[in-house]
Amino acid sequence: MKEELEGILTDIEARTFSSADAVEAFRVEFLGRKGRMKDLMGAFRDVAPEDKRELGPLLNKVKTAVELRVATEQALFNKKEAVHSSGLDFSRPAGGVQQGTHHPLQVVRREILDIFKNMGFGVVEGPEIEDDWHVFSGLNFPPEHPARDMQDTFFVEKNPDLLLRTHTSSVQVREMERREPPMRIIMPGRVFRNEAVSARSHCMFHQIEGLYIDENVSFADLKQTLLHFAQLFFGPETKIRLRPSYFPFTEPSAEVDVYWGLETEVDKRITKGTGWLEILGCGMVDPNVLEANGIDSKKYSGFAFGMGIERITMLRYQIGDLRHFFENDKRFLDQFSGER
Ligand code: DAH
Repeated sequence: MKEELEGILTDIEARTFSSADAVEAFRVEFLGRKGRMKDLMGAFRDVAPEDKRELGPLLNKVKTAVELRVATEQALFNKKEAVHSSGLDFSRPAGGVQQGTHHPLQVVRREILDIFKNMGFGVVEGPEIEDDWHVFSGLNFPPEHPARDMQDTFFVEKNPDLLLRTHTSSVQVREMERREPPMRIIMPGRVFRNEAVSARSHCMFHQIEGLYIDENVSFADLKQTLLHFAQLFFGPETKIRLRPSYFPFTEPSAEVDVYWGLETEVDKRITKGTGWLEILGCGMVDPNVLEANGIDSKKYSGFAFGMGIERITMLRYQIGDLRHFFENDKRFLDQFSGER
């Protein structure tokens, strides 16, 4: 009997099943009412008591092995059947997991903020719906002054004192009225202008504003801070130049260019043949602005600057059309999946 049981064990392992019916036949052969297990049980009753010790566990082992094999094979064929009747083709290659990406504007915004945070600037945000004072009057734009037309403004119809901020310089005013110098802050945010949407302009875009006020802050501090920023952001060899400009809230005012180069046709085109590209506006905070916001302009001086995130991102990644940023076309966004 021992040999027979051992033979069955090997036989169970060796069997293969081509269909659910074959599994059923196997089950009946062993576990059915007239099956082999039944015969073996009967034969076991007649075995000499001294042999039962050894044969009992072996018999159990065979029974368990048969049951296990039947259960496993049944489950397998049930699954195959389910897959088959679902009509799905599980042999097709998997599609891969689609991962989200950081938006390029977000990547650049974070990088710029990090650079200034490392220089000791704190990050401050302000409201997008503003009043005339914070966007214009508090920044030394006199009423009716043509400088207001530099930025075409969306006004709230029911209350002309309310408007969508045209620049993040409004946050400077909020901070100056809220606290005492020294202050060293960087202010990112969304701004709005009534401009037609094109490859180069949009009615909504993003800026980052900087403000540093303390005793003895000089134009040299401004220049060095911006050079340091440009070299960290665009590369250690980056050169900058400052061109005189005009903003109501700074005196003197300047626009800052980075040297881009003139090697390729594209370089010539985007720099209009000069090799230089404008990246931001800046200047020494006008004493009128300090005084209007309760800061003693005899004791304190400061510098400010403002840059457009879209513009800087377009330079960094050579993006030719600003509208790409707002269309959320995955083919565009996926190109930045490697960025942090
Ligand atoms: N607010 C200006 C703009 O929107 C940018 C700017 C220029 C900000 C000079 C400044 C600055 O703080 O000093 O075009």
